[in-house]
Amino acid sequence: MGSHGKGASRVDTVVTDVAAGHVAIGTRMPRRLRHARSIEDLRVLARRRLPRAVFEFFDGGAEDESTLRDNRAAFERWRLVPRMMVGVGTVDTATEIAGSRANWPIVIAPTGAPGFAWPRADIAIARAAATFGIPYTLSSSATCSLEDVAREAAGAPWFQPYILRDRPFFARLIDRAEVAGYQTLVLTVDMPTGGKRERDFRNDFGVPFHWTARNVCDFASRPAWAMQLIRNGVPRLENLIGLDRSGPDISGAASSVGRNYDPDFDWRGFEAIRKRWPRTLLVKGILHPDDAHRAVELGAQGIIVSNHGGRQLDGAIASLDALPAIVAAVGDRVPVIVDSGVRRGSDIVKARALGATAVMIGRATLYGAAAGGAAGAQRALEILTEEIVRTMRLCGMRSLDDLGRGWLVRQDAQPPGAAMAAGEGSEA
Ligand code: FNR
Repeated sequence: MGSHGKGASRVDTVVTDVAAGHVAIGTRMPRRLRHARSIEDLRVLARRRLPRAVFEFFDGGAEDESTLRDNRAAFERWRLVPRMMVGVGTVDTATEIAGSRANWPIVIAPTGAPGFAWPRADIAIARAAATFGIPYTLSSSATCSLEDVAREAAGAPWFQPYILRDRPFFARLIDRAEVAGYQTLVLTVDMPTGGKRERDFRNDFGVPFHWTARNVCDFASRPAWAMQLIRNGVPRLENLIGLDRSGPDISGAASSVGRNYDPDFDWRGFEAIRKRWPRTLLVKGILHPDDAHRAVELGAQGIIVSNHGGRQLDGAIASLDALPAIVAAVGDRVPVIVDSGVRRGSDIVKARALGATAVMIGRATLYGAAAGGAAGAQRALEILTEEIVRTMRLCGMRSLDDLGRGWLVRQDAQPPGAAMAAGEGSEA
C-alpha cells in the first residue's frame, strides 16, 4: 500500500473536465445520479430508496440534534472574501495528509453498517475514494471484513477500531489490521458509550433489535431495497463476529446503547495502544485543545477534530468552532483534520482556511452510496471536488497552500476595509 499521489496530472484532468462543464469521471452513471447537483440532492434520492429506519440511522443525530444542526450552521457563520484577477486557469488541490499525498483535502470518515445503504457499500466507497486519490477509512463496524477491503479496494485505506470492553478482541482487531497492511490507524475516542439517537428507538432500530410490526412494515415499504437485501444477504458487522453472544447482526448497527464500548478507557489505555501499533496513529473525536496537546505528547501523529457528526454528545461544540484552538495547539506539529457537517466544496475551502489539513466526510458519500452504490459514491465525490475547484476559482485561489484566515470573515463581523469606509482611519 503506497502513497495516493498521482499528483498534479490527475488534478489537471479534473479541473479541465470541470471547466468544460462535464462530469469528471464515471460516464456510465445512471441519469438520476447525473442529475444530482448537490449532496442534498443525493440525500433526497437516499431518502426515497431506503426504509425510514435505515435512512434515519444514517441521517440522524443524538437527542435534540442541536449539535447536528450547529455543525452546518458553523460553516455558515464564516463568509469567504474573494479576490479578483488572479489567473485561476489551473488550480492545485493536492495536499499531504498524514504522510500520504492526496489529490484533494478529503478523507472518507469511518461509518458503521454501510451495507444497509447498498450491498458492499464499504468497498464501493473505498474504490471511489481510490479513484479520486483520497484515503478511505474503514470502520470496525463495517459490513465488509477489513481483510476484504484491504484486498479489494485500491489505494491505501485507513482502519478505525472502536475501543471495546473486550480488550483481547480489540487487540486482535488491531493485529489483524497490521497483518492486512493498513498503514494508518484512526482511534475513535468519543464513544465511552453510545449517543442517545432517539430516531433509532422510535423506528424500532435499537439494541437489542427485535422485529416489530413497525419495522417489518417499514422495510416492506421499500421493496427494491428489501429485495436487494434479500438477494445479497443481510449485512453483518464482519469485523465484530464473535464479539458478543447476540452475534454481529443488524442489532449492532443501531448502536444507541453502546454496550460493547469501554467507558473506562483513559490516557494509560491510549499509551498502551500507541506502544502496540507501530505505524501511523491518528486520534478521532477531539474537541478540546488540551486533549489534542496531550494526545500529541503521547505519540498521536494527527488529530481529527470531530463531534461524530452530532451523533454522540448533543450540545457539544460544532467541530468547526473547535478547530482554530486545536490548530493553534498542535497544528505546527501534526496534521489536523476536521469533520461533521461538510456538505459543500466551499465548506472544505473554509476548513482549510481555518487551518485544517483536510476534512473527513461521512454522510456525503453514504447518501451517494444509498442513492446508487458505487456510482452514487463517485457522484458525491464529483460534486464536492467540482465545488472545491469552482470555489477556489471564484475566490481567486490558485493553491490550497495559499489559504489562511485572510480569506474569511465571520458572518457578523465587519468586512475588510469597513473601518476605513466608516471614516475610522486607516487599518494599518
Ligand atoms: C458515523 N461515524 C462513525 N465514526 C467512527 O469513528 N466509527 C464509526 O463506526 C462511525 N459510524 C458512523 C455511522 C454513521 C451512519 C454516521 C453518519 C457516522 C462518525 C463519522 O466518522 C464522522 O465523524 C461523521 O459522519 C462526520 O459527519 P458528517 O460528514 O456525516 O456530517
